[in-house]
Amino acid sequence: MMIDDDNKILDEAYKILRANILFSAVGKKLKTIALVSYSPSEGKTTTSINLSIAMAKAEMNVLYVDADLRKSIIYKDLPDTKLSGLSEYLLGEANISDIINKTSLNHFSYVNCGKQSNNSAELLSSDRFDRFLKDVEGLFDIIIIDTPPLGSVVDGRIIASKTDQTIIVIEANRIKSKNVIDMKKQLLASNAQILGVVLNKINKTDYKGYYGSYDYYGSKHKDHKKWFNRKKKMTKKEDQK
Ligand SMILES: Nc1ncnc2c1ncn2[C@@H]1O[C@H](COP(=O)(O)OP(=O)(O)O)[C@@H](O)[C@H]1O
Ligand SMILES: [Mg+2]
Repeated sequence: MMIDDDNKILDEAYKILRANILFSAVGKKLKTIALVSYSPSEGKTTTSINLSIAMAKAEMNVLYVDADLRKSIIYKDLPDTKLSGLSEYLLGEANISDIINKTSLNHFSYVNCGKQSNNSAELLSSDRFDRFLKDVEGLFDIIIIDTPPLGSVVDGRIIASKTDQTIIVIEANRIKSKNVIDMKKQLLASNAQILGVVLNKINKTDYKGYYGSYDYYGSKHKDHKKWFNRKKKMTKKEDQK
């Protein structure tokens, strides 16, 4: 019973986020969305994947793209994962059909980051990335793009400048407001369209009465879990650097 309740809260939180995004975007182009944050571990990947799943459950054809090209993660444990990802496409070594993975969850597909790249900013600035966006726009209803932290590398800004909308993920009670303001200025200077902010990892006791926090702990959802476990390992590795 407990588990069911947890799942309901989780599902509800991301459903609300989905609805907020769709409402905020009325009258705006909403095909490609970048999720960005100032520092690592604020919850970009968690939010991107859960949001993608929530959209897929609403029968939108969703593509989740891992554009954190500096960290090479290949989802080997997921069945039939293709080895090539976004970096191979950007290097001209793979075509669009070589990198799109379908999943057991209807309407949910994903693209790996591919092999690690040290010149990811150049790759993302290239025409190949524009072509990638055009290609996937023709194939999916919505494309959610996960990015590396803006406080460390410029990649997120490049991606945000090329996507229709940008969502900023902020870890509550951790990130200095000065950094958030600087990040917002940089994004606007890069011509990013900021759709809104996700305040993540809020402390429930601080926000008593708030309806739905984006807290997924306790989730026993199969789809979520596979991804989270993979991403948790990745985060740990990064923290050790
Ligand atoms: N809302 C949340 N509640 C609890 N833990 C979270 C939440 N969002 C993310 N996390 C955890 O925080 C860590 C970093 O999340 P992740 O999505 O990988 O961040 P990023 O992609 O921004 O580096 C992960 O271990 C993840 O499980
Ligand atoms: Mg991430």
